[in-house]
Amino acid sequence: MSNDQVKKQIDQLTDKLNDYAHQYYVLDQPVVSDAEYDHLLRELNELEVKYPDLKREDSPSERVGGETLDHFSKVQHEVPMLSLSNAFDAQELHDFDRRVQQGLGHKASYSCELKIDGLAVTLKYQNGRFVQGATRGDGTTGEDITSNLKTIATIPLKLRESVTIDVRGEAFMPKSSFNRLNKAKEAKEEALFANPRNAAAGSLRQLDPKIAAKRQLDIFIYSVGQLEEKVLDSHHESLQYVSELGFKINDQAKHCENIEEVVEYCEGWLEKRANLPYEIDGIVIKVDRLEDQKRLGFTAKNPRWATAFKFPAEEVITTLRDIVLSVGRTGVVTPTAILDPVTVAGTTVQRASLHNEDIIRQQDVKIGDKLTIKKAGDVIPKVVNVLVDRRTGEEKDFHMPTECPECKSELVRIEGEVALRCVNPKCPAQIREGLIHFVSRNAMNIDGLGEAVITQLFEHELVEDVADLYRLEREELMKLERMGEKSVDNLLKAIEVTKTNSLEKLLFGLGIRFVGAKAAKTLAMNFEKMKSLQNATIEQLEAVDEIGTKMADAIATYFDKQEVQMLLEELENLGVNMIYTGPKLQATENLDTVFAGKTIVLTGSMEEMSRKEAKEKIEALGGKVTGSVTAKTDILIAGERAGSKLKKAIELEIDVWDEARLITELG
Ligand code: IVH
Repeated sequence: MSNDQVKKQIDQLTDKLNDYAHQYYVLDQPVVSDAEYDHLLRELNELEVKYPDLKREDSPSERVGGETLDHFSKVQHEVPMLSLSNAFDAQELHDFDRRVQQGLGHKASYSCELKIDGLAVTLKYQNGRFVQGATRGDGTTGEDITSNLKTIATIPLKLRESVTIDVRGEAFMPKSSFNRLNKAKEAKEEALFANPRNAAAGSLRQLDPKIAAKRQLDIFIYSVGQLEEKVLDSHHESLQYVSELGFKINDQAKHCENIEEVVEYCEGWLEKRANLPYEIDGIVIKVDRLEDQKRLGFTAKNPRWATAFKFPAEEVITTLRDIVLSVGRTGVVTPTAILDPVTVAGTTVQRASLHNEDIIRQQDVKIGDKLTIKKAGDVIPKVVNVLVDRRTGEEKDFHMPTECPECKSELVRIEGEVALRCVNPKCPAQIREGLIHFVSRNAMNIDGLGEAVITQLFEHELVEDVADLYRLEREELMKLERMGEKSVDNLLKAIEVTKTNSLEKLLFGLGIRFVGAKAAKTLAMNFEKMKSLQNATIEQLEAVDEIGTKMADAIATYFDKQEVQMLLEELENLGVNMIYTGPKLQATENLDTVFAGKTIVLTGSMEEMSRKEAKEKIEALGGKVTGSVTAKTDILIAGERAGSKLKKAIELEIDVWDEARLITELG
């Protein structure tokens, strides 16, 4: 056979086998017998061995798992992978609908889908070829798990059109594969996986792709991340489109005209979910029109155009064995229930926070009690009820201590707070927890530095504050238990990398009171440099949207401290970046219009244009349109029959325009 003939044969076999696999795995409509498929596959494999140069990138033999990696590289998501807000009942679904309608100014229809309980992945295709697949990670940066994803039969290696597209979906392990896997593990006396989600995640986080190949994972694609040169109007159309490209989509999705239909769909699945061949933990509801999604936009964490209806949590009974105390980063002492291990919603639970003494009193919890527990939002274990009827008389009362369990200094109850606090700034527990917070995902995100290693470093007195993390030396680390040469090198590399983090990560990591990840981002965007933030007055801080008086005070107090100033100087000298490097704030102030940088409220009815139109035009000229009149409002546009907003604006001496003036200014 000539080379050309071999190439033609390899091409034909590859296409045929891929098509059969698509019919079998994606469409669930086999067109040939297994024997026929295996026969053709063997034929192709023999040719590929003889002519390796002619093997195609989308050959089915790519699915068996390539070479073992020594680490996963990081992948920056061009479009962040956010999580969803939750709705726990019909009322909360109606609330979501109200927010959507308010945001849009009109009704919306929804696409409802099963919320598959697996792990989110993003798949990148260039000119129709699968080039990279990654985990969600912290939403901005994930891990490159391409070789593991290639082993999933329902992920096409080549699409039916030569498009450049990113799609997102949920990789999961079907219940049948999960049961088979755990049976095999049981037979080998190996530790079992707690649930299919952990099993799927565990399989895709293996460095040897041959393991994933054996695990029979599957995927449903649920959205398009990025797509060049194609205009889609609605979410349901985009699902149809990805299905045409060769992806597997879930066939239970439904387009609902209104929220009543959404509620009906959600409630219907409460019972039916048990019969599905895979696990779901809720329903995802998405505004269907893509233009509406765009207009609703995002909060820092979630899209405003989607929410997840979560199924009510399962409740189980267990016994409270003990109550232990822990001291958090801010000195708050929290009591934790130690429980007889029980399985709830798929995982084993042995601890649950009891929050504070008031809650212990209110719930009348005694050591030895039988309790019902559930997982709030299916994640955090929570005590629901004490089964007082089942008391034997042996149960013991619990009292909070008067001294810090770690440093023995006296605990205080700050007025207006329920928590007991250790106020000793040198308390080792607070320092350790502060370090754990500093290295955590949303903060500096130092890979391989979790609670256990921090505790080890702290106990060996290698770190006392966050700056010490950047002074760690190889020789010292090598002396620690369970620290090989490779893990030390990886750790040092991981620490080094975080020196270039954008400012918000450091800012959040410092653990300033009331400054969460979102506020840290807002501050970093607005002030850009740590120095500018350090020098900012309370007024300058408060002038930033979303920064209230309480937070502004806390920030100013924090930066006033001499030890903070010293710490920041040390960090800077150690090479830690102090500048914001993320996307710039839209410089609307620089637009040369009367609306630029102004906060504007629209009220009353307009004749010439709708409020929605007015809002769009003002925003295009750099103005910001908000809903209520406050001291931060610059202009109130009052249409006919304007009411309380107009009154308030007059009281606050805010500039008031009528519709005619607005039209003139809009040009
Ligand atoms: S849409 C902007 N659709 O649920 C987020 N998510 O909190 C858009 N999930 O980890 C997500 N099934 O991986 C969407 N049909 C579905 C889903 C789904 C499962 C997961 C997703 C993410 C979490 C959302």
